[in-house]
Amino acid sequence: MASLTIRKLDDAIKSYLRLRSAQNGRSVEEEVRVILREYCEGSPAPTASLTSPSAPAERPVAERANAAGQASVTLIIGGGIAAFKSMELIRRLKERHIDVRCVLTKAAQQFVTPLSASALSHERVYTDLFDPGSEFDAGHIRLARECDLIVVAPATADLMAKMAQGHADDLASAILLAADRPILLAPAMNPLMWNNAATRRNVMQLRRDGIHMIGPSAGEMAEANEAGIGRMSEAIEIAAAVVDILRPPRPRPLAGKRVLITAGPTHEAIDPVRYIANRSSGKQGFAIAAAAQAAAADVTLVSGPVELRDPPGVTVIRVESARDMLHRVEAALPADIAIFAAAVADWRVANEGEQKLKKTAAGMPPLQLVENPDILATISKLKDRRPPLVIGFAAETEHLIDNAKAKIARKGCDWIVANDVSPALGVMGGDRNTVHLLTRDGTDIGVDDIKVDSWPVMTKEQVATELVAKIAKTVEKNS
Ligand code: CTP
Repeated sequence: MASLTIRKLDDAIKSYLRLRSAQNGRSVEEEVRVILREYCEGSPAPTASLTSPSAPAERPVAERANAAGQASVTLIIGGGIAAFKSMELIRRLKERHIDVRCVLTKAAQQFVTPLSASALSHERVYTDLFDPGSEFDAGHIRLARECDLIVVAPATADLMAKMAQGHADDLASAILLAADRPILLAPAMNPLMWNNAATRRNVMQLRRDGIHMIGPSAGEMAEANEAGIGRMSEAIEIAAAVVDILRPPRPRPLAGKRVLITAGPTHEAIDPVRYIANRSSGKQGFAIAAAAQAAAADVTLVSGPVELRDPPGVTVIRVESARDMLHRVEAALPADIAIFAAAVADWRVANEGEQKLKKTAAGMPPLQLVENPDILATISKLKDRRPPLVIGFAAETEHLIDNAKAKIARKGCDWIVANDVSPALGVMGGDRNTVHLLTRDGTDIGVDDIKVDSWPVMTKEQVATELVAKIAKTVEKNS
């Protein structure tokens, strides 16, 4: 198969490809593949001229509106070698459905062109404070305010000094002075400039003024043989910081609450190499732990052997057997809410072999089973340390609601999440679940007073989110 070297193509074709790929947010190679595929599939060949596409028609700032209600950023590109990374930053922000309007300082235009920024942002680019096209209605004020965030990348030592001092002698500094939106700086400069006492003072002042900063990071400089702190953060890191700042503060309905969760199967040893287990994947319990953590709870997850990663921010205790699980659950008390999602083995082998059991002429060795402790029932029936809200699961293959009602009464918990684990439904090990939430308000009431709420089929994450929302509502009501 022949290969194609893009470098050897005509300059006009190269520049057309570069602009088309920038506009579509693809690499040049990907763009060539797309053009060839479209051609083979019978789409008309590209008809655009091989000259540069023109910049979007100028519109006064006043007319600009974000019809889609998307977040928008004014990106001020300062004059430094890192300005080329800002082109990638525009792409990363657009990928995250953030509108970008670029402002290039005079110095920035030595490194990148307004045309590249315009092609990538699909917007007009602003460069002049005294631009009659936008300043007839104080366009710099609108650029400062008709956005959700102002990002300065690269933020040069000079731009930061101007900001710290409140200068406004060009478009970028005028926008920054007129801003009533949050500002994020991504500094980039030579390490000696970054360490200079004047820059240190300015950085300190800007931080005191509530300006967000990301970076700079350590690494090699554009200048030969120079390394140190001063490299602009990568575009993907800046985009993540932008998303973080734009994200509305998350509700914290379970802040200050301790949530204890069990998950997964237990393994009950037969001998040193064999065990009794079940098909539980642990996914539902892990999803509940993640949802409770997202609701700001302090979460401890006691899990049997599963192939799942620890949910971030959750204290995970890995155990093997039902008895280990009970000990670790008791040790993790007190808790405000306990959720028992584990598929605990009901029995263990009484005569566990110390050595591997061998096949003998006498046939299979008899396995004597004894019942495991019931962790849910034990915790539900505690006198002093019973968590105020105890939730069990009921894994059933028949008479789902009746069995679950009997279980809530027998075990003494407050709620039960009942699910049908018949193999045909693929709940055990699968990603979806159909559950019924059984609730009761007091321990002395009969099964007829238990309320049943049947939920539609959902992913295990959705079940977790719904359950945590219901818990949060109840906690709020009872507090
Ligand atoms: N459970 C527990 N300890 C056990 C057995 C079960 O904590 N030894 C908990 C489970 O985590 C679940 C609830 O009890 O929250 C019900 O589990 P399930 O397997 O549905 O019922 P079993 O108690 O095992 O009863 P059965 O086998 O008769 O259905």
